Amino acid sequence: MRITINDIKDMKQRGEKITMLTAYDYPIAKLVDQAGIPLILVGDSLGMVVLGYESPIPVTMDEMIHHTRAVTRGAKKAMVIGDMPFMTYHLSVPDALKNAARFIQEGGAQAVKLEGGEIVADTVRRIVQCGIPVMGHIGLTPQSINQLGGYTAQGKTPEAAIRLMKDARALESAGAFAVVLELVPAPLAKLITERLTIPTIGIGAGTDCSGQVQVISDLLGLYTDFVPRHAKQYARLFEEINRALSSFIAEVKEGTFPTAKQSSTMNETVLAELTRSASSLD
Ligand code: KIV
Repeated sequence: MRITINDIKDMKQRGEKITMLTAYDYPIAKLVDQAGIPLILVGDSLGMVVLGYESPIPVTMDEMIHHTRAVTRGAKKAMVIGDMPFMTYHLSVPDALKNAARFIQEGGAQAVKLEGGEIVADTVRRIVQCGIPVMGHIGLTPQSINQLGGYTAQGKTPEAAIRLMKDARALESAGAFAVVLELVPAPLAKLITERLTIPTIGIGAGTDCSGQVQVISDLLGLYTDFVPRHAKQYARLFEEINRALSSFIAEVKEGTFPTAKQSSTMNETVLAELTRSASSLD
């Protein structure tokens, strides 16, 4: 049975920590799913860690749908959440509905995520009313990086902290089933988590959130252009891949790859006949 929003809400009620990881393709989605991670986010971090953009801003709906389809082919149990890209839910509510629906109908996702608090609450309400679960995202919202002026912690002043608390409440009232808190001071994340009935999923927001999310490429040590302070490398695949590539180059050059194991042979009689016929071609 696939994980539902009720399972996620129940986990908060039971005090069971929730894990969420990003995935952008079939093999990683399959690994994450089989590891028992209940939430897979096809994040627009895709822009940086897979497509090589400087920020998530250039990511398009078509790129997101393409990768969401690959992820949903690999994830059989986890709930897959499609991240709505920059400006795909701001222009109008009908536009937001159309784009949210694409994640479900074309991408095969079970939910969508979008950034912002009070400002997007009406949009969240309409998407939820249409039967699409929505995850909110407040604090450091990377799609607003140009406005925020950098990847720094949010909610540090009393006014900013109150604004984030109001944003979280607005998302909950609008029907969001969970909310990501990114780069929010740990004590503020704790206060928000205690005041909401829906789960909070933290990233750089301390241990008191209902769960934690990480970008898979950070966690596996695959993407090293920029490693955020809140990321932990549980593996160093970048180095492992470099080692594998060097070994491949060395073995091809010295003639130790391929071996008989990676090659196929030919029947001796066929080979003798081939050699005879080939010499007549010269
Ligand atoms: O795009 C993403 O990967 C995200 C997570 C960092 C929450 O939004």
